[in-house]
Amino acid sequence: MKIVIKKTYREISQAAASIVSDIVTQKPTAVLGLATGSTPLGMYEELIRLYREGRLDFSRTTTFNLDEYLGLAADHPQSYRRFMDENLFDHININKERTHVPDGSLSADRVDEHCEEYEAAIRRAGGIDLQVLGIGGNGHIAFNEPGSPLSSRTRLVALDEQTIKDNARFYDSEDEVPRFAISMGIGTILEAREIILIANGAKKAPVVAEAIEGEVTSRVPASALRMHSNVTVILDKEAASLLKDFPLLANQHIQ
Ligand code: F6R
Repeated sequence: MKIVIKKTYREISQAAASIVSDIVTQKPTAVLGLATGSTPLGMYEELIRLYREGRLDFSRTTTFNLDEYLGLAADHPQSYRRFMDENLFDHININKERTHVPDGSLSADRVDEHCEEYEAAIRRAGGIDLQVLGIGGNGHIAFNEPGSPLSSRTRLVALDEQTIKDNARFYDSEDEVPRFAISMGIGTILEAREIILIANGAKKAPVVAEAIEGEVTSRVPASALRMHSNVTVILDKEAASLLKDFPLLANQHIQ
C-alpha cells in the first residue's frame, strides 16, 4: 500500500486527478470506478479543468459508480446519478451511455437481478482499471458497512446509523435519508486492477489509522484494501495525523 500525504485538499485532489489522467491517457478505453461524496469533488474539478485545457479526452472512457440509494429516481436532487452528471459527466466529453450508476428507482424485487447485471457489465467492459474510493467515518467503502463480508458482491445493503447521520446534511431532515442502497461489494472493489483511496480532514483521521495500521477485519471495511497489491492512499495532513508513522511520512511527503 502506497501512502501519499499532501498539505492541502487541493493538492490531494490534484494528486488523485493525475493518477486518473495518466490511466485515461495511456489507455483511452480505460474503465474507471467512481465514487460520490464530498471527498472526490476537488478531483472531479481538476479533471474537468484538464479536459477544458485539451489535456484529457474521455470520449472512449467507461465508468462504473460504486453505489446508489434505493428509492431515488435518477433525477432526484440527491441521487448519485445526478451527482455524477452535475459534478463530472455534464462537463466532459464522456459518452453517457458508457457511464453506469446502479439504478435506485427499481422495486426491491428487481434489485438482485440488476446487481447481477451490474457485475456482468463490469466483466463485459473488461474489469475496472482504476477504482476511486472515499472512506466513511465508520470505515465503509462504497456502502459496505462494518460487518460486510470481505468477499461481498454488488447487492442491496442497509445503511448503518452513522452513515444515515453523516448523510443527513444533504436532506431537510434525517428521516428523509434513504435507509437502503445498491452497492458494489468489497470483493467487487478488490478486483479492480488499481485502487486509490482519498481522505481529507481530521474527522477521518481515526478511521484512516485503523484501516491502514489496524488489523484486516470486516469491522473496518476499508482495511480489506490491504489485501490488494496496487493501492495508493492519498491523504491530507489532517486525515493522516493519527498514523503511527505520521512524523516519518510527513517528512517524506510534505515539503
Ligand atoms: C460514495 C461512497 C462512500 C463515500 C464515503 C465518504 O460513492 O461510496 O463510501 O466515499 O461515505 O463520503 P464523503 O466523501 O462525503 O466523506
